[in-house]
Amino acid sequence: MRKKFIAGNWKMNLNRSDAVALAGGLASQLGTSDDVDVAVCPPSVYLDAVREAISGSQVALGAQNMYHEASGAFTGEISAGMLLDVGCKYVILGHSERRHILGETDAAINLKVVAALAAGLLPIVCVGETLEEREGGRTQSVVKGQVEGSLAGLTAAQMQQTVIAYEPVWAIGTGKVATPAQAEEVHADLRSLLETVYNSEVAAAVRIQYGGSVKPGNAAELLGQPNIDGALVGGASLQVDDFMGIIAGAKS
Ligand code: 13P
Repeated sequence: MRKKFIAGNWKMNLNRSDAVALAGGLASQLGTSDDVDVAVCPPSVYLDAVREAISGSQVALGAQNMYHEASGAFTGEISAGMLLDVGCKYVILGHSERRHILGETDAAINLKVVAALAAGLLPIVCVGETLEEREGGRTQSVVKGQVEGSLAGLTAAQMQQTVIAYEPVWAIGTGKVATPAQAEEVHADLRSLLETVYNSEVAAAVRIQYGGSVKPGNAAELLGQPNIDGALVGGASLQVDDFMGIIAGAKS
């Protein structure tokens, strides 16, 4: 049985005091309940402050990106070791905003995924089609290509530690959520791809989150689909009540 996993991607939002207040609010509301895995992924400059705010709670810390090299002359970059050092458990890799705005390729994402796993960080690897690709009937091939490219070379054990986030680009920040059936179709395809590439044990173990306009009002139905194992939440992760509402949807 896969444990549901709700992660908040705060993107480039909040300031230090709002980040600490949000994290502290979540930590206290969540209490000791651990039937759902919960993580927050603040901007990297606030990781340390947020770690302190969630210390001792069930909320885990994640980063939004990293570089694949361990150290050296890579101005502006952050390594997996540095993220572990400030208390991260997870790192989001290959988010569509990084793919489309910052030009990240599957090959670059693959290097990061491999480096994260080697260091002991759990990657949340994002895939998803644009509206044009969906309307052109290419959703399945695009998502398959992204999974094969960005997760190339992972062992079965590494794959089981990796979370996949299916985030259709047209649903991100638009309020236009995929229907539960549209999301479930892609999640089921992803799971059968994992079965083909690895085996049924790996396919059954990997958690596949949905992301794109997840809100308290649509979370329960999405998370009730057999192959949707959690959510990667943008806008609605910036308010304690909204994020708690989504976590509640994962429990129902
Ligand atoms: P929204 O929830 O704001 O649509 O963002 C989704 C997302 O990109 C999470 O990574």
